[in-house]
Formats: sequence, C-alpha cells, structure tokens
Amino acid sequence: MRLDTLLAGLEQPVLAIHGEPQVTLSDLGTGEISSLAYDSRQVQAGGLFLAVPGEHTDGRRFLAEAARRGALAALGPRYDGDTPPLPYIEIAEIRAALADLACTFYGHPAQHLCTIGVTGTDGKTTTCNLISTILDVAGKRNGLMTTANFKISGRTWENPTRQSTLEALDIQQFLRRLLDEGATHAVIESTSHGLELQRVRGCAFDIGVVTNITHEHLDFHKTIENYRRAKARLFEMLDPERDKGLNVAPVAILNQDDVSYEILQPYCRVPILSYGIDTPAAVRAVDLRLGAEQTRFRAILPDGEIEIVTRLVGRFNVSNCLAAIAATSSLGISPELIAEALATVQGVTGRMERIDEGQPFSVIVDYAHTPDSLEKVLNILRPLTTGKLMAVFGSAGERDRQKRPIMGRIAAQLTDFFVITDEDPREEDRFTILEEIAQGARSVGKREGEDFLCIANRREAIAAAFARASKGDTVLLAGKGHEQSIIIGTTKTPWDDRRVAREQLTMLQPERD
Ligand SMILES: Nc1ncnc2c1ncn2[C@@H]1O[C@H](COP(=O)(O)OP(=O)(O)O)[C@@H](O)[C@H]1O
Ligand SMILES: [Mg+2]
Repeated sequence: MRLDTLLAGLEQPVLAIHGEPQVTLSDLGTGEISSLAYDSRQVQAGGLFLAVPGEHTDGRRFLAEAARRGALAALGPRYDGDTPPLPYIEIAEIRAALADLACTFYGHPAQHLCTIGVTGTDGKTTTCNLISTILDVAGKRNGLMTTANFKISGRTWENPTRQSTLEALDIQQFLRRLLDEGATHAVIESTSHGLELQRVRGCAFDIGVVTNITHEHLDFHKTIENYRRAKARLFEMLDPERDKGLNVAPVAILNQDDVSYEILQPYCRVPILSYGIDTPAAVRAVDLRLGAEQTRFRAILPDGEIEIVTRLVGRFNVSNCLAAIAATSSLGISPELIAEALATVQGVTGRMERIDEGQPFSVIVDYAHTPDSLEKVLNILRPLTTGKLMAVFGSAGERDRQKRPIMGRIAAQLTDFFVITDEDPREEDRFTILEEIAQGARSVGKREGEDFLCIANRREAIAAAFARASKGDTVLLAGKGHEQSIIIGTTKTPWDDRRVAREQLTMLQPERD
C-alpha cells in the first residue's frame, strides 16, 4: 500500500516531516509500505515504523534500528531530536494513529465481521470464551482474543503475551486473518487499559458486554472515576447507526446486579439488554443450584426459558453465563443451542481449575488477582470445604498498590490460614510487596507465623500450604491461573501454578501413604 493512501486513513493531520531538508511528504507518499511495526525488532524492509512511547520505553529511541532494518519511514508523536536517521512523520496522537493505520492497512476487517467486545473488572476472559463456545455450537465461524487464549474457527492456542488486549495492530491483523478464513464473528476481550490506549479503536463493536466494575488497576487509571470512564468507552463506541449489512442490531449487554449498570447506562445510545440474578432483568437466572462440581439454573429470556447446566462453579459464573446468554441470544441464537453449548464448556484454564493427584484435600488454581475476585472465590469455596480453607497468593509488582492490604485483609477474614507469596514482583522489591499485603492481615489482628506466612518463593509457599493441609481442606492457589511465567526483576521464568501444584502434590504422597 502506498504511504499516501495509508496516511489518508488517519483521522488527524500530519504535523511535520523531520529528516533531511529535501524530504517532502509528496515524495515520500509514493513509497510502497510493505508492513507496519511498532516494535523496532519486527521492522521489515520497506516497512513503516510506528514510534510509540510506552510505560517502559519509547519507540523514538529505536529509530536507528528501524532505519537499519530498512524502514521507509517512521511515524510518531512530537520529535525534537537531531536529524533522524530516517524520515519521521510527526502526528499528535500516536495511539489513535496506530489503530487508524492498522485498520487502513488491513482493509477495515471489523466492518465485515460482527464484533463483540467484553469489558469489566472480572470475568472477561471467561465470558468471552463462553460466547465463543456458543457461537461454535451454533455453527458460526468465529475468532476469540483473550488473556488466556486465541481461537480461530475452533483452533485454540495460548496467549503467550502478558497482554489481555493486544495492540491495535495485532488486533486488526487478527481480524483480517479471521475474515480471510471465512469467519463471521469476533469476540475481543477489551480491558479498560486497552480501551484507554485505543487498542480496540476501529473494532466497530456491534455488541458491548460488561461483567462488573470494581476496584482494579487504579495505579494506571489513577482514580476509580477514570477507570469507570475507560469501561464506558466500549459503550460509547456502540453506534445505533452502524450497519455493516450483517443483519445485526447493535446492543449493550449490562449487568443489572452490578453498580456498573447505573454508571454505563447513560453512555449507551443503543438498546440495552440487561441480565441479572433474581433481579427483574431481561435475561435472568432463577433457581440456582450451586454445586462443587457443577452449576444449574433456569434462565429466563425474552423468548423463552431454558435449564442451564454447566461445569463452571460459583455464583459469579452464573453472571458470566447470563452475559454470554444475553449476548448470543441478541444475535438470534436459540435458547436450546445456548443451553447445549454451555453444557459442553469444560471450564477455562486456570479459572477455578481443580488439581487432583489423589491427595486427600482439594487444590484449586484460580486467576483471582483482585480484592473482589479473591473475596468471591473464597466465599464460593467456603461452603464447599468441610475442613480448613487456605490460600496462597500475592500481588503483582508495578501494578495497583492499593489493592495489596485489601487482599491481605480479605484473606485474613475469609481463610483459616494463608501464605503470602510472589505473583510477579517485576522490578519492585518482592519483600515490600509481601509486607504491604501482610499489613492488611495484621490490621484485622492476624499474626505472621500463626495465622499466615510470608514466603516469597512461590514453590516453597505452595509446599508450605500443602504441608498443612489434611482431609477435607481446600487450598486455593490464586493469582496466576493460566499464566506460563513469573516475572522477577526483568527476568521472565517459566512458571505454571498447575504444574508446580502437581509436582508438589506428588512429592507429598509417599509420606502420606
Ligand atoms: N463475574 C465475575 N465476578 C467476579 N469475579 C469473577 C467473575 N468471573 C470470574 N471471576 C474471578 O476472576 C478471575 C479471573 O476471571 P477471568 O474470566 O479471567 O476474568 P478477567 O479476564 O476479567 O480477568 C477468575 O479466576 C475468578 O476468580
Ligand atoms: Mg482476562
């Protein structure tokens, strides 16, 4: 694609061209752009390098590398260095530009797909997977992008990045691929971070879904208000006039049980389809039977009633199911197919996943890493536990600090014993993080050594909890879920809570026999 064609897709003006004085935009414009890249290591000959300032580094520092790899030009925000090593196109809003250029380069794939965005504090990945499974069962070829996995037409693979919502360029490339493979629907997990950073700009959402809004990511969004506004963006993006010729009417799927309902309603210009448990929502669940192995409820929809049976446990999964039921029912999928699909769901990796190596107690791996989800998970596990309820968890470094003492307090109040450990300390002092969590526990009278332990090494922490567990107990390993690595300093080491749990359980067995 010619550079001038590409630049015509920008919704903002080019402010300046930096480089040798003789370089003009009209000369540059005739150049053919082979590819786009925001990572200088991915730049290809003839490519356009998008210099994005990030939290840790600044793309503008890598212009030389981009030039060496043969980039035709770079595009980025304000440039006030020396003459750059390649023509530098200055614009004001790099994040919007990244998305607009990606959409143009890949031919606006979202305009030809029914796109479903899911946001909220907790339950996004689960809900996305449920929606995708229902679409599969209904025979609708679809793609899925979440924290845990990617899927195209039934083929699933793990998300190796630590990002829930990828950069706009990756999303648009993925959507293009979907379209080329004949898919009709795309389900995209849209974090508040991703929304704020315009990563889902150009996704032209038809359906917006929210799970709930609670305390999270306050380090990045500064205040709960900003955070709420970020979530609202998804709903602002729903356009009542949108007509892709796909016979899909845009709709907002809101949770009537949650505070987010009141917050988001004013932002919705499209019809709202509400869901809720025991509330008079348009899609509601009644007669809940919450078991240790499965969940049953009756779903009342605008066009009928269905009995739902799923292996997903816990009350919050009823909410996640309702969100998925509402979203897919609004797409015209029959209640019977929806029920059939939910019955086949095996569970989402690292979400309330049971690890069984024949040990006399229960071990659950769950991705709960927010105060709200930790509280909910512990409340679910308590009635399912005849003995002691224990937890092993931490809190990530360089992320929301405010939640640390809150999580310590929640564990103190809801477990019988817990071990505070590393999550991903990153470049923060790991012991300081543990201490901040411990303070929350101390504030409600818990004593280290007696009621809880602080063991930074996660393997040792898990071993310590298992060593204290006996028949009827439950040990919750929270916070890492499906993740395949632990980040200490700047080093990413392979890690899998499920694997380590199995390893530690097998080591326990001989002593117990
Ligand atoms: N609707 C919900 N409300 C509260 N907590 C939830 C909900 N759904 C899932 N959780 C908890 O949050 C964790 C993460 O779930 P996930 O579906 O990965 O959410 P997200 O993608 O929003 O982080 C789960 O392991 C579970 O502990
Ligand atoms: Mg997620």
